[in-house]
Amino acid sequence: MFDYLMHHRIQMWLEQAAEELQSALNRDLIVEEKKDASDLVTEMDKNTEKFLVGKIQHYYPDHKIIGEEGMTGEKVTDVSGMVWVIDPIDGTLNFVKQKNNFGIMVGLFYDGQPVAGYIYDVMNDHLFTGIVGEGAYLNNKPIELEQYQAINQSLVMGNVGMFIENHMNTQAIFKEALGARSLGSAALEVISVIRGEASIYISHGLSPWDFAAGYAICHALDMKVTTLDNQPLNILERSSVIFAHKNVHQEAINLLNPTE
Ligand code: IPD
Ligand code: CA
Ligand code: CA
Repeated sequence: MFDYLMHHRIQMWLEQAAEELQSALNRDLIVEEKKDASDLVTEMDKNTEKFLVGKIQHYYPDHKIIGEEGMTGEKVTDVSGMVWVIDPIDGTLNFVKQKNNFGIMVGLFYDGQPVAGYIYDVMNDHLFTGIVGEGAYLNNKPIELEQYQAINQSLVMGNVGMFIENHMNTQAIFKEALGARSLGSAALEVISVIRGEASIYISHGLSPWDFAAGYAICHALDMKVTTLDNQPLNILERSSVIFAHKNVHQEAINLLNPTE
């Protein structure tokens, strides 16, 4: 199961991976398109995932691993036991175009339930961790959750295109909030909510590696994470997601689902 040694190892691996990413920005990157020109992958996405998968397989050979870049070569089809969910670079487009505003994410789940989450904001050297049942930390200092703010008194995080297209009625949130902000990285958008800079982060479509780490950290902070129609998340499926302070969550769900 999860223990302090595991926690310590993950922190060390992430620090090492972050250092490699920082130094990679000083040389030319090998950039390839995945689905289209806005969906990129670099050799550093692959190298970072390969590095983390290698460490996990060495120390925890019986654990399952879900990684965005598929470096294990195997597909996880059931959530039983310990499952690691890895996004080696969240915000690859920012990594390539801005050399800033990207993160590494690792989520740990046992029988489908969140155990611990790690988000490394690489260019700020900020490591956010959450251990369910214990609490959340920024560079090992405990995080206090900010005061609850109603949506009409707060900023919200979400993808610009989602609000423009009104995917899943998200304009209802956009219109209620003081303003919406978009960072191009689910990792950093979740961090904004954790830090109280925004009351919620919503997305009409995230993959397990985009939401797993944030889900676990928010769970450790007693925040609420569900789909936009208020269903539990499944780490094997892509879905809509809302990360919210407990008291704001229901307000957001009511706005998104007016008949509920
Ligand atoms: C993307 C970012 C982006 C979100 C996309 C993700 P990637 O992750 O988190 O903010 O809107 O849905 O795919 O591809 O850079 O790991
Ligand atoms: Ca990624
Ligand atoms: Ca991602």
